[in-house]
Amino acid sequence: MFSQIPFEQKNIKKEDVIKEILRVAIAAEFDAISLYEQLAAVSDREDIKKVFQDVASEEKTHVGEFQTLLLREDKEQITKLEGGKKEVDELLR
Ligand SMILES: [Fe+2]
Repeated sequence: MFSQIPFEQKNIKKEDVIKEILRVAIAAEFDAISLYEQLAAVSDREDIKKVFQDVASEEKTHVGEFQTLLLREDKEQITKLEGGKKEVDELLR
């Protein structure tokens, strides 16, 4: 879980700061999804479980928002995402 930004801005090139911020935000959202899904799984109250599952789902939308911003900033990531998908498709064909 992230309660602090895991880098010092002074150590990052100015043109890379936004990309790093967005990557941290995406990682935090994935962490939140994992946490809320685990909390839902261990809850024996259906009302609490339902809300955690709903919030976990909302966090997936947040991943999409931050990823959309990151892909506007990091064109190499677009190519790498496509490359990764292609590799998996070929391996599992
Ligand atoms: Fe979120």
